[in-house]
Parts: sequence; structure tokens; C-alpha cells
Amino acid sequence: MTHVADIAEGYLLRNDTSELAGVNREVVVFEHALADLAALDDAHLARIIERAAKAGPMHYNLSVVEPDDEGGYGHWVQGLLARPGEKVNGWEVLELIRAGRLWLQVEHLHELAPDLYWLMRAAYDEFKRRVAHFTYFNLYTNLLISGPTAKVTPHIDVAEVLLFHIRGHKKFTLWDPAKFPVPDEWRESIILREQLEDVPLKPEWLSQGTEAVLGPGQGVSFPLMWPHAVENLGELNVSLQSEYHHPASIRRYAALYANGLLRRRLGMNPHSTGPGAWGEALRAVAGLAAKKLKVHSPKPRKVALSFVVDARAEGGVRWLPEKERMLVTK
Ligand SMILES: [Fe+2]
Repeated sequence: MTHVADIAEGYLLRNDTSELAGVNREVVVFEHALADLAALDDAHLARIIERAAKAGPMHYNLSVVEPDDEGGYGHWVQGLLARPGEKVNGWEVLELIRAGRLWLQVEHLHELAPDLYWLMRAAYDEFKRRVAHFTYFNLYTNLLISGPTAKVTPHIDVAEVLLFHIRGHKKFTLWDPAKFPVPDEWRESIILREQLEDVPLKPEWLSQGTEAVLGPGQGVSFPLMWPHAVENLGELNVSLQSEYHHPASIRRYAALYANGLLRRRLGMNPHSTGPGAWGEALRAVAGLAAKKLKVHSPKPRKVALSFVVDARAEGGVRWLPEKERMLVTK
């Protein structure tokens, strides 16, 4: 892998600066050099999978989407790469992912794959140098490795997102809240950790969003808290995904947090905190203060790990009996 210090300035993002100007304000598909520089071939992926398995389930999310009874997008079920004490063969797991619907997110890249973390930091720094309004803090990076039929159900991320696609093809569907209004209560419950990020969009909206197909060397940015879904298009997919904040996203996050508390604690029906809405900054100060004072202490979110990867089981997924399921806080 190329050492980050050797990357020429301006090399990581291949678009003209004018084409990057809409980053985090509109849907922007851009071209990047990370697919070449990250050298995420099968051997590299297998090593990272083994490191993640050894580090344990707090360092990764492994999921499949199980179909719903009434149709629709289905629902997430989480599992384990290995049971405690078991050793994992990264190549074997990679083949199982390639064969089916497993979706693996390796977290904490600054620990498990620092080269990838620093490569992403370099791309962020290039955005910052070239796009006047762009800034970032609280950068969180992860590596997504998912199967040809894996998909991510419609959801809202509470931070800004930049995804650098590396291998395979995937389709993003994004729903502009101006056309497909999503109640603030949904965003508040996600921020207050009362529910997972999934959002129940109207079934007729599912085919009406804006679509963006990404191939290797392409990336996507979209406005904060836009609902989106992702479908892999028939190959092993590898992406470097990241989340971050900047002052405006923190204001929006904190304002929603404050409104959520007003609604729940005082039975109030606060005005919308739509971006730029009047009073958002003030509300945000209250939200940040409340968060610091721990006014709201949500129950930790417990997630059951219901399966373990097993080459001998159908689809590589061996379901665990109820009493063997591990409960983790995520
Ligand atoms: Fe997302």
C-alpha cells in the first residue's frame, strides 16, 4: 500500500473542485483514488477479517437481512464471526460473504487497519483544502465487506456520511425529505437511542427515491439525515465508509435532542428544527447542555447476536439456540 506521506497533494479526489462544491449539501457522486491506493485485495481483506474476529464483536457488526412476513425491505439480524475462543479463517469468511447475503462492517479502523484510517483522513483533508465550507471532526471510519445480494434497509444516519467505494457495484437510493417528509419524532427517537436507525418509509416511496450507482473508485456524499437504502448489484462489495460532524450538523443533532426531550419530558410539541430553522442554535445549546448533564439517560441498546458464521451451514449462517445468543450493548 502507498504510504500516505507519498500521496501528492490533490491526488485523492479526481474531480474538479467545482464538482465537489455540493458535498454534504446535495447528492454528490465523486471519483477518488482510494480504490487503487488501499490495495484491498482478498488477502488484505482476509487479514482484516481475522483481526476483527480476534478483537471481538464490539469491533464489528455482522448482519443479514431477514425477510418480513408482510414483504417490504426486511429486518436486520446480527451475528458473530466466531464464538469466544474460536479461531477464524479470514479466507473462508470472505468466501462465505462472496457467496451470499452476509454484511460485515469492521469498525475502529484506526486500531485494526491504521493504513486505511490514515488514507481516509488524507481524503478528508483534501476535501477540507478544496471545498471552502467543508470541515470535519469526530471522524469515525469503518470497512464494509458485503455479499452480492446484501442490502441495507432504509435508515437515517445521525452524523454526516462519506462513502468511498472500492470493489463491486452498489445502488444507493436516497429520499429527499423535502419531497418525502419524515417526521422529526423519528430523528429524535434515533438520536435519543429509543430505536435503531431504520425508518418505516411508505411502501409506495420505495421505488421513488433518487438513485446513484457506485462502481470502484466512486464515492457519495448526501445531506445530513436523508433517509437512504443500499443494494449490492451482484458482486462482492467493499467500501470504506465514514461518519463525521461539523458545526452545522452538531447544531442540528443537538436541536433534535433538545426537542426530543421537550416532547417526552414536558409533553410539548416543539416547532420543527429543519435546517436553518429559527431558534435552532438556541435549542442546540439547550440540547448540548442537557446531554452533558445527562438529563436523559436512555437504556443501553442491547443487541442479540443470533448466529455464527459456519461454512457447513446453509448460506454460511448457523442460527444459535436462544440460550447461546450473546447480548451486547451497541
Ligand atoms: Fe447509512
